[in-house]
Amino acid sequence: MSTTDVKVPCGQAAGERRAAQSVADVHRGELVVDRVFHRYIAGGRPTEVLNDVSFRIDPGHVACVVGPSGCGKSTLLGLAAGLLRPSSGALRWDGAPVAIGRNPHLGMAFQQPGLFPWMSVRENVAIGLRTRGQSRRDARRVADEFLDMVGLADFKDAYPNQLSGGMAQRVGIARALALRPRLLLLDEPFAAVDAFTRLKLQQEFKALLRLDRPTVLFVTHDVPEAIALGDAIVVMTQRPASVQRIIPVSREDRDRASPAYARKLAETLECLGVTSDIQD
Ligand SMILES: Nc1ncnc2c1ncn2[C@@H]1O[C@H](COP(=O)(O)OP(=O)(O)O)[C@@H](O)[C@H]1O
Ligand SMILES: [Mg+2]
Repeated sequence: MSTTDVKVPCGQAAGERRAAQSVADVHRGELVVDRVFHRYIAGGRPTEVLNDVSFRIDPGHVACVVGPSGCGKSTLLGLAAGLLRPSSGALRWDGAPVAIGRNPHLGMAFQQPGLFPWMSVRENVAIGLRTRGQSRRDARRVADEFLDMVGLADFKDAYPNQLSGGMAQRVGIARALALRPRLLLLDEPFAAVDAFTRLKLQQEFKALLRLDRPTVLFVTHDVPEAIALGDAIVVMTQRPASVQRIIPVSREDRDRASPAYARKLAETLECLGVTSDIQD
């Protein structure tokens, strides 16, 4: 296989089960990025952004993408979302090429949450559920549930211009999670959140992932966050970006007081060309 595994599925019976299943079933919940190249043409000039990017995320696993600013991380998410078509190569979800257009399996939250300013916070979260056919009452109930989870219980009737940047991001996260997506694409979703709230949100987010076990592609510039949330860290090179390394993360690595954590942090930062040791 031309792709690099982010995490290999385990279980002795997997082979036997696979033999009895269809291709779509076998690859259900799996995101594959296979030899993807992407270039933008702006003002007649091409910009090479992604250069032979390959990796795979197994169902229910979280891959955190880190890399230099401008290397193509958001582009990668756009491709996985079906908002862009790769210049060459393929992205596959559930074993089939990612379709351009509406993808009902998908939930997305971006750095700029893109809230509708004329709608209340609750309506902003409920709107996605309404477009999927839920009744107004059910959509509101689910919206409230997820707003409680991201700590915005008191702001359901507020409007986006009454929120801080971090609060608006949390609405964006609630909106994505409320859809109970099978594939979750997140682009620096906690970037505008203060450090303390961020740690709290990371913990809550992790608990939420355990509910539905979506497959997650999570872009962050924060290496500790990648270690806290990822099953693997995909380290990208400078643009035109390829995968520099895929670093697996274990449960032990997440304990911030452990030597394993310090080693994982140092390894990832070194990959990014940064030393973790700040000298006086
Ligand atoms: N729509 C576009 N048209 C032309 N160039 C773009 C477009 N979107 C992004 N780029 C360029 O592609 C490169 C990668 O962008 P992006 O994927 O946003 O990087 P990152 O998210 O890693 O910071 C940057 O050099 C950016 O200027
Ligand atoms: Mg970006």
